[in-house]
Amino acid sequence: MKVGIDRIEFSTPNRYLDLVDLAHARGADPNKYLIGIGQRKMAVPTLSQDIVAMGANAAEGMFGGLDDKEKASIGLLIVATESGVDQSKASALFVHDLLGLPSSMRAIEIKEACYGGTAGLQLAADFVRAHPGTKALVIAADIARYGLNAGGEVTQGAGAVAMLVAENPHILALEERSVVRSRSTDDFWRPNYSAEAFAKGKYSEQVYLEMFAEDWREAESLGLTQVSGLQALLFHIPFSKMGRKGLRTLESVIPVSDYERLTARFEKGIMYGQEVGNLYTASLYLSLISLLERDESLCAGDRIGLFSYGSGSVAELFFGILQTGYRDRLNRTGHEALLAARQRLSIDEYESIFSASLVTDGSQQDIEDGDPAALHALIRMEGHERFYR
Ligand code: COA
Repeated sequence: MKVGIDRIEFSTPNRYLDLVDLAHARGADPNKYLIGIGQRKMAVPTLSQDIVAMGANAAEGMFGGLDDKEKASIGLLIVATESGVDQSKASALFVHDLLGLPSSMRAIEIKEACYGGTAGLQLAADFVRAHPGTKALVIAADIARYGLNAGGEVTQGAGAVAMLVAENPHILALEERSVVRSRSTDDFWRPNYSAEAFAKGKYSEQVYLEMFAEDWREAESLGLTQVSGLQALLFHIPFSKMGRKGLRTLESVIPVSDYERLTARFEKGIMYGQEVGNLYTASLYLSLISLLERDESLCAGDRIGLFSYGSGSVAELFFGILQTGYRDRLNRTGHEALLAARQRLSIDEYESIFSASLVTDGSQQDIEDGDPAALHALIRMEGHERFYR
């Protein structure tokens, strides 16, 4: 049975910070951010644009194309995030309510740093294989926060990707064989008491590259990496330079023509991420959308590799085959318009939005609406509860 991504959509806040402005404000050379880190802009969410709102808005983007029967066949909703809004209640339940999904289904949240989206996708694929006729909705949604003036400030961002997983998918059929490894590391983490993440940036790069090399070697030994048949190789992209470093490790080990093809496609795959920044769980899948929408030369039947990395750490290399008619399921014009319509923030505006916080004493807080045009937003806190539009 072919199972994979049948629909895919993303949402991102309607405001951004230009990283040249950030470089000037922090006394850095803009080329460090633009070339050294490889990013151009980062999305800046307001309090109303939390992961529940962004996740639901991403899914709404595909729901216009779903009939009632398809909606009723969704048996599993997974929200993957490392920016959860509650220690107990799954953010998937807020999303489930906002989307008006059937009650006869499972709705859960998954966490393993930036790997969570892939954990969700693979579990969803297994669920669909085990329950023929059902579908699963996977939402990867995150807000990357390191702090004003922090080392990782330039690698912040926000957004969500929603994927509908189904039999006979219209976009990407997932191969069942993949390679995956887990190992406890302390390269990046966010303690329960902290609103900002901590990262040992250089160590994290090292673990990412080590685990990619281990995955690649194992995949090679299993015969999964015949590069002449691999049309693209996507990477988890906390910032584009990280994925580029991963790809470069193959430069001396695969034929030049294959390396050039993978590099050209890698460039298409980082275009959207360079505009919104790190989406943690959703970064790899935003890269997939970017590749599929910005590359004109891929065809149905082409094989794509995807390397997923989550600090802490889990790393999986998996593969998929593009399906006939996949372009009809994409929304390049809409996504380009979404990115182009965003408001550019000044540094003062960015710092003010970044510093705003939700009440923690149970009092009522009406949240300023960051984007009245969006279907879903966090609108109020009251009695420690969250209320959404
Ligand atoms: N022009 C071009 N490149 C420049 C430059 C300039 N003027 N100035 C610096 N650079 C390059 C550096 O050579 C370096 O390149 P390299 O990585 O290829 O060696 C790169 O820019 C970054 O510079 P560096 O001084 O190493 O940056 P930093 O100490 O500020 O750290 C990160 C950068 C990305 C490590 C840091 O922002 C971070 O920790 N971010 C969080 C990462 C993360 O999320 N990890 C976990 C998820 S996988």
